[in-house]
Amino acid sequence: MPHDKDSGAQPAGPCALVIFGAAGDLTKRLVVPALYNLTCAQLLPEEFALIGFDLADHSDEDWRNSLTEMVEQFANSDGSKYAFNRDAWNFLASRMSYMKGDLTKPESYGQLKSKLEEADKTQHTGGNYLFYLAVADRFFGTVVEQLGKSCLSCEKPGHWRRIVIEKPFGHDLQSAQALDHEILDIVSERQIYRIDHFLGKETVQNLMMFRFANGLFEPLWNRDRIDHVQITVAETVGVEKRGRFYESTGALRDMIPNHGFQLLAMTAMEAPNSFDANDVRAEKAKVVEAVRVCDGGAKCNVVRGQYSAGKIGDEQVPGYRQEPDVAPNSPVETYVAFKFLVDNWRWSGVPFYLRTGKRLARKKTQIAIKFKGVPCALMREEVSSGPAPNWLLIRIQPDEGIALEFGAKVPGPRMKLGDVRMDFKYQDYFGTAPATGYETLLYDVMMGDPTLFQRADNIEAGWAVVQPVLDMWAKNGPGDLQFYAAGSQGPAAADELLARDGRAWRPIN
Ligand code: BG6
Repeated sequence: MPHDKDSGAQPAGPCALVIFGAAGDLTKRLVVPALYNLTCAQLLPEEFALIGFDLADHSDEDWRNSLTEMVEQFANSDGSKYAFNRDAWNFLASRMSYMKGDLTKPESYGQLKSKLEEADKTQHTGGNYLFYLAVADRFFGTVVEQLGKSCLSCEKPGHWRRIVIEKPFGHDLQSAQALDHEILDIVSERQIYRIDHFLGKETVQNLMMFRFANGLFEPLWNRDRIDHVQITVAETVGVEKRGRFYESTGALRDMIPNHGFQLLAMTAMEAPNSFDANDVRAEKAKVVEAVRVCDGGAKCNVVRGQYSAGKIGDEQVPGYRQEPDVAPNSPVETYVAFKFLVDNWRWSGVPFYLRTGKRLARKKTQIAIKFKGVPCALMREEVSSGPAPNWLLIRIQPDEGIALEFGAKVPGPRMKLGDVRMDFKYQDYFGTAPATGYETLLYDVMMGDPTLFQRADNIEAGWAVVQPVLDMWAKNGPGDLQFYAAGSQGPAAADELLARDGRAWRPIN
């Protein structure tokens, strides 16, 4: 199969991919669409097999058909770079088969082994297996244990075995450590690919390019020139059909130690010695390990909120407590704002403010960097507004791009300052909006490149930062939960968090 001319990348080598949780939502919404995109980009090998594993009773045909319509819809939506391409889908569909299996039963793994050996013979997959755990997190340990017992995870020279684990990886520091311990007893760290899909986003990967491939920004990227950093991950969606999951998770666990801290790490890390996976991941872990909650501890520096009914655009939406599978008096947070420091040589004293929430005014993931102002305002008499605020805005999604805001003289006889903006948009330069993000990640696993995956120390460092907050909430109860109307900017207490420092959030608009 010829390789994708646009990317210059080569197709992955022969392999079989097993999806545990093949009938689930993640498989439909993300994994199979990403495989379809990889097929269109001609990055899957000819010698490829896709085996769906789940409890439900399906034939190969049923499983393929259940995905065809969905992939067609996906391909015709904005999320796909490629219009529906029947040849590409047929290529993938002809390599798909389904097996009914029980994650907890050793005999299912015996059957899976026979199926994989069959694929090696008929589809020449070369004994290379990728196991994708798109299952509830309580099964992660069980599946890895069964893969070990059946020796499906045993590598031999020339045959790799890799395991992709979805989030949530643990529910707190202790459970994440226990899970690491459990799986690393069976397989080596090198075989484990812990996914954080934010790392598949082009704009997140670009943070490293932007910082380390341009000489311009690095001299400014420190406590001398930066006043503070705001990281925003705002969503307009509510909890959708995930009420049950969300009730035991909440916004902090769902978004901060993983996605939020990935954005932080990419923004604040030191330059790695190379783009080698271990070098990059070591620098990222160091940043998160340096996070300190500011004076006053978790109590003064964390705000949690929950959405009540409101309007998103023209649509009236219910409050969190009225969502399906949510308790009518649920104390679970759907919003968190968190102020902290990165206590190292580069960042000492620079506050980082991180917020995330559901049902906010707009979908917006952005890193906003505010630079320090000029030492004193010249032309005081003439300038009608204060000195220009200089902001660098890195738009992760949507409207992917980077903007720089600064002041310029308004044309005319007076020395008047106006705020202006230089704006780079991905769409304008590269003619493309990035796709689901899973493509790169799946391709990287097939290629054996773990750079964009979380190592055990990355995951545990994230949990270690939020653990005092979880402990405090568990101890104090939900008395400090703040309500905010759906479609708003979030709770007023989050504004106060910055106002106390003489700062303000950039509006989510
Ligand atoms: C997931 C969270 O990991 O990320 C969801 O579980 C959240 O609650 C989602 O909605 C956000 O991802 P994206 O790519 O839409 O920003």
